[in-house]
Amino acid sequence: MYLSLDLQKVMTKKKVSFEYEEITSIEACDENIQSLYSEAQKAKEKAYAPYSNFKVGAALLLENGEVFTGNNQENAAYPSGLCAERVAIFSAKSKYPDVAIKSLVIVTSAKNVQAPVSPCGSCRQVLLEYEFAQKKPFDIYLQTKGQGLIKVASANHLLPFSFNSDMLNG
Ligand code: THU
Repeated sequence: MYLSLDLQKVMTKKKVSFEYEEITSIEACDENIQSLYSEAQKAKEKAYAPYSNFKVGAALLLENGEVFTGNNQENAAYPSGLCAERVAIFSAKSKYPDVAIKSLVIVTSAKNVQAPVSPCGSCRQVLLEYEFAQKKPFDIYLQTKGQGLIKVASANHLLPFSFNSDMLNG
């Protein structure tokens, strides 16, 4: 009896919500994003995805104005492959470790996309790592229904309650 009363006292429900913007088409975005979108589309065409046939392209803009692209690279030993966004971000960060990312666009070859094609869990963790490191959020654009895009203003929205470097210093 007493035990269940005590338990009730300490159980407080909390909700985490996330924000995103719906964009009807790429034409509604500024020039930088339109150009990233077309770079991501081009990168997607060069993806190496013989196993899934699901091609993904990513393009990101750094604060120094440079654009880096990536596409998914698969492998007969499946887990050895890498997602498009990680190829792009690792490439950018290996050349410019101290330059912040401003925006990232991710597109796919999927026809009839019904819901936003959003980064996998491992990619979210990687995106957030760099966001933490640069102490500034960056915009992430995802392909969705028809011509639509979803804009997320921080990787934090994609991975609430994330594990991050602060916890290593605890
Ligand atoms: N893929 C990406 O490149 N990015 C994502 O965010 C999700 C999945 C790739 C991995 C694999 O090559 C293919 O899509 C199917 O999962």
